[in-house]
Amino acid sequence: MPEFTLRINGSERKVDVSPDTPLLWVLRDTLQLTGTKFGCGAGLCGACTVHVDGAARRSCSTPVSQVVGKNIITIEGLSANGLHPVQQAWIVEDVPQCGYCQVGQIMQAAALLTKTPQPSDDQITEAMSGNICRCGTYDRIRRAIHRAAGGVR
Ligand code: FES
Ligand code: FES
Repeated sequence: MPEFTLRINGSERKVDVSPDTPLLWVLRDTLQLTGTKFGCGAGLCGACTVHVDGAARRSCSTPVSQVVGKNIITIEGLSANGLHPVQQAWIVEDVPQCGYCQVGQIMQAAALLTKTPQPSDDQITEAMSGNICRCGTYDRIRRAIHRAAGGVR
């Protein structure tokens, strides 16, 4: 098995896996970073979203060989204390219901706000459209994104 060195949450981690192993499996099974969730495994739900060089990426459909040398951030590394502005807004707006999709939602929202600090409703809809919530928390997600952007609604 080839060895890959990955930069995850600011630390270098060595993993022995096949090059086509999805990043999600490496995170969850090899490195025990289980905050990132498995939903569909096919790039369709957004539950597995992480950041790769600052952009939201579906880790279930990203081969590990594609992210060598890139800066990977998971929910565990989004902030030092779990209080990234998006996480704070999520708490205030009481967004989660079952919670399963929420890590992916938060990572997607954080990437959106890095690129577009004051997103419009349309920009939020477009950026979040690939993140599915079976509990239907979409209205609270939208409110929390506006709150994190500094424009409470
Ligand atoms: S688990 Fe990756 S998009 Fe659904
Ligand atoms: S909170 Fe249950 S799937 Fe989104």
